[in-house]
Amino acid sequence: MTEEKSAYDVCIVGGAGHVGAPLAVVMATRGNLRALIHDVNRPAMDKLASGELPFIEDGGEFLLRRALSAGMLGFSADPSCIRGVPYVVITVGTPIDEFNNPVLRLITDCIQRLLPYLSDSQTIVLRSTVFPGVTESLARFLQSHGKETKIAFCPERVVQGQAIREITVLPQIVSGTTPEAEESAVRLFSRIAPTIVRMVPQEAEFAKLICNAYRYVQFAAANQFYMMAQAAGLDYQRVLDGLKQDYPRAATLPGPGFAAGPCLMKDTMQLFAFSNNRFMLGQVAMMVNEGLPNFLVENLRARYDLTQTRVGILGMAFKSDIDDTRQSLSYKLGKILRFHGARVLYSDEFARDPTFVSKEELVHGSDVIIVGVPHSAYRELAIPDGVQVIDLWRVVPTRGAAQMPLRMAS
Ligand SMILES: NC(=O)c1ccc[n+]([C@@H]2O[C@H](COP(=O)([O-])OP(=O)(O)OC[C@H]3O[C@@H](n4cnc5c(N)ncnc54)[C@H](O)[C@@H]3O)[C@@H](O)[C@H]2O)c1
Repeated sequence: MTEEKSAYDVCIVGGAGHVGAPLAVVMATRGNLRALIHDVNRPAMDKLASGELPFIEDGGEFLLRRALSAGMLGFSADPSCIRGVPYVVITVGTPIDEFNNPVLRLITDCIQRLLPYLSDSQTIVLRSTVFPGVTESLARFLQSHGKETKIAFCPERVVQGQAIREITVLPQIVSGTTPEAEESAVRLFSRIAPTIVRMVPQEAEFAKLICNAYRYVQFAAANQFYMMAQAAGLDYQRVLDGLKQDYPRAATLPGPGFAAGPCLMKDTMQLFAFSNNRFMLGQVAMMVNEGLPNFLVENLRARYDLTQTRVGILGMAFKSDIDDTRQSLSYKLGKILRFHGARVLYSDEFARDPTFVSKEELVHGSDVIIVGVPHSAYRELAIPDGVQVIDLWRVVPTRGAAQMPLRMAS
């Protein structure tokens, strides 16, 4: 029996999400591929179908509308839509649980739903970040169900908010469980990526996790240096500026700040779990990065009676100039402050929440302002005289206001 051919070249499963939607748009426009978005989130798909991205991605909406008007994008919430589509790209979430262990159920549930419609002529491309060994185990699972579907793992390494540009300028790591699967995935990604880097699946799985864990460890180093220097009574910014000046070997040392979001800690913890809890550097990085809000609150408690203090947190997204608040440490900061009795105001330039106030209301209604994320809009913000500011990024102009010196109480 010949297989019914689909009108689409590629189906992005989880295509309404942060990784899936930009990929679908780039494949449809830059790759000239007819792309089908399959997702269980109907409101997000409706939004995309109306030409709006459900979240901020630089240049994304322009390309989305171009793809829609060219008839290159389709939408379906029905898993049978993958039938006969040559490439099925999986971009569903891969979270960790309360024990910091990977939750693979989202991937396995997703594959179970697709199973009846998969054929041997298709290629499944895993693009979600997965625990080492998952790609091979997926191949075994499909074989146990009598399927010879080709399986590839091709990780996403772009930075959120810049995906549209970065997908087409960064090298793409491609791996497959068989040479045929690898070749098939190379053909797909050659349509959009400038360079292909070939690996075997477990190398590629490790490579992706290491990219994020390395960044997380770098941020932890920066945050630890910051906390130590501040606790010694120094202005860390002066230390950092001085040590970096005309000194190339320190050029990559990041500044301090909240290191959070849906990927960095999660992927570090995936490596930690994979190494049987022996990835100590990753564990310590988590303790340092997650400890930064506590450090800030301890400093405030040494100076203020928090039950009498209004604290404004400026910026709730996990990263500047995007609207994604997933796993943002600004919320953890707010929670600790409230626990100690402070009245806490939240504001964000992009993320929408009926409980948030405008940045102007926040600066006028707070005794202390803590910058949670350095959105560009804060560069112009006028801070009233007498208001104390804690701004690790030095993004807010503090003409009248005072940048609060931080020093851990002994
Ligand atoms: N966000 C990033 O910047 C980024 C970067 C690189 C890699 N990743 C990885 O990519 C994966 C996805 O992350 P994300 O941020 O896009 O998550 P997301 O939650 O934004 O998107 C996942 C999408 O999958 C959909 N979905 C869930 N189960 C489904 C199913 N069974 N069938 C169809 N759709 C389903 C959800 O509705 C959602 O729209 C994760 O593994 C993540 O670690 C994310």
